[in-house]
Amino acid sequence: MNKRVIGVFVGSLRRDSFSRKVARSLSDILVAMADAFEVKPIELSGLCLFDQDFDDDGRTPVAWSEFRREVKSLDGVVFVTPEYNRSMPALLKNALDIGSRPPGQNVWNDKPGAIIGVSPGRLGALASVQALKQPASFVGIHLMPQPEAYVSNAASLFDATGRLTDEATRRLLQNFAAAFTAWVERFKTRDEAFDRS
Ligand SMILES: Cc1cc2nc3c(=O)[nH]c(=O)nc-3n(C[C@H](O)[C@H](O)[C@H](O)COP(=O)(O)O)c2cc1C
Repeated sequence: MNKRVIGVFVGSLRRDSFSRKVARSLSDILVAMADAFEVKPIELSGLCLFDQDFDDDGRTPVAWSEFRREVKSLDGVVFVTPEYNRSMPALLKNALDIGSRPPGQNVWNDKPGAIIGVSPGRLGALASVQALKQPASFVGIHLMPQPEAYVSNAASLFDATGRLTDEATRRLLQNFAAAFTAWVERFKTRDEAFDRS
């Protein structure tokens, strides 16, 4: 069986980002749990702000083309997001916008996906996750409805090396990973049946 390749998109560029630590922990759990799954962290730092003129004028940035190619090849997408001012970080919205264009070449369309919210506060970036759901579903990502995953009090969950030490969060991520692998498999099974028909 071909490996299922999952792209992980972190909504923070911060050096010590809690979201990235959660993304790494999730990736370790996913790969340990499901042999058939491979996880690819997708780098967003090289994407300049979306400007349609770049595409229209035939000077699409190389970083956009590489990003679009990479997203297109994925079997599933996971967004791990902090909350900025009760919404999603611009970094993730920009990535969604870049991947959705030019018209007719939206690379997000029909991919299974899921979102995890991460905050050092108590609300687990709930508002960010809810905000991100809107453009993510608009571009055609099939978002896993349940379980939702909100990681709160993120500053207290890791040791000095960034290793997850909180058992409740580990269980939450394990539960999320198990459901997400099944979610991706549903779409793979559908596609493989379609390929055979
Ligand atoms: C511009 C800005 C706005 C923020 N707004 C919120 C917010 O609305 N809700 C929240 O829980 N935390 C908010 N925070 C705090 C972030 O949760 C915190 O900086 C967190 O560490 C960012 O995620 P990261 O650790 O992955 O970089 C905000 C931080 C910044 C820089």
